Amino acid sequence: MKVAATIAEVRAEVRAWRKQGLTVGLVPTMGYLHEGHASLMKESVQRCDRTVVSVFVNPTQFGPNEDLEAYPRDFARDTALCEEMGVDLIFHPDVDEMYPDGNGKTDTYVEILDDMPKQLCGKTRPIHFRGVCTVVSKLFNIVLPDCAFFGEKDAQQLAIIRRMVRDLSFGIEIVGCPIIREADGLAKSSRNTYLNAEERQAALCLSKAVSLGKQMIADGEADAEKVVEAMKALINAEPLAKIDYVQAVDGMTMAPVQEVKADVLVAMAVYIGKTRLIDNFSVRM
Ligand code: PAJ
Repeated sequence: MKVAATIAEVRAEVRAWRKQGLTVGLVPTMGYLHEGHASLMKESVQRCDRTVVSVFVNPTQFGPNEDLEAYPRDFARDTALCEEMGVDLIFHPDVDEMYPDGNGKTDTYVEILDDMPKQLCGKTRPIHFRGVCTVVSKLFNIVLPDCAFFGEKDAQQLAIIRRMVRDLSFGIEIVGCPIIREADGLAKSSRNTYLNAEERQAALCLSKAVSLGKQMIADGEADAEKVVEAMKALINAEPLAKIDYVQAVDGMTMAPVQEVKADVLVAMAVYIGKTRLIDNFSVRM
């Protein structure tokens, strides 16, 4: 496995693979890797001849009062996990390599202009998805992969990337991978490391709300509002939890829906203490 810090090194490596007729998969990450990321790598290694993992904490997707500085980093551990998973190349650039204007600034963004990035997480994180689309576009241009792998844990991000790839004709297959959870249900996240023991216990209200919502729908509840209200009540019973949003939306457009039907996404963001966690499920019928 190779580690590249520069765009030029990645391009040279990928060009050599292409000459041999090999296919390339990309797994974009911000590092502090866990089994959720590993599941994406596994899928890429199975589907593609070569797998590139990018590890880059992207400044343009963090708001001014968010956790850019505090975001956990452990590149030695990330490297070991990538090696174990059969990854061929890690791209680990510094901020200036990705944003040559310096200080993680850029004057060129990729942004979806309709309501899609303004819903759900976009309400509290107004510049987030613009930063995600910009960095993912850059990674696509650097690696030129056949396939790129994203987790359903970030369901809005996945839908936005699919839309961007369609609108900008990237010609890359976007593969969505299921949410990987801890044994007790908590969705794996690099941000779980912020939780103290008491908060870690309280954080279970997210996955419990997911289970409740799924069960109500399986039992025939078709009123999205009723499902959402029951989930909110469960979360509000946890004193350390503060709801950012719980919402039922169309899984493609992120527009709010009233009726439960196939491909509705029920998504939430909840503060546990100071830590903002997300979880979701999609309605399969
Ligand atoms: P990051 O939070 O590191 O996540 C990288 C990828 O791993 C994303 O596609 C995310 O959905 C997936 N992932 C995280 N936790 C998961 C879990 N428990 N189960 C399944 N998949 C999981 O998402 C980002 O980074 C960034 O926004 C990025 C796309 C890299 C752009 O900077």
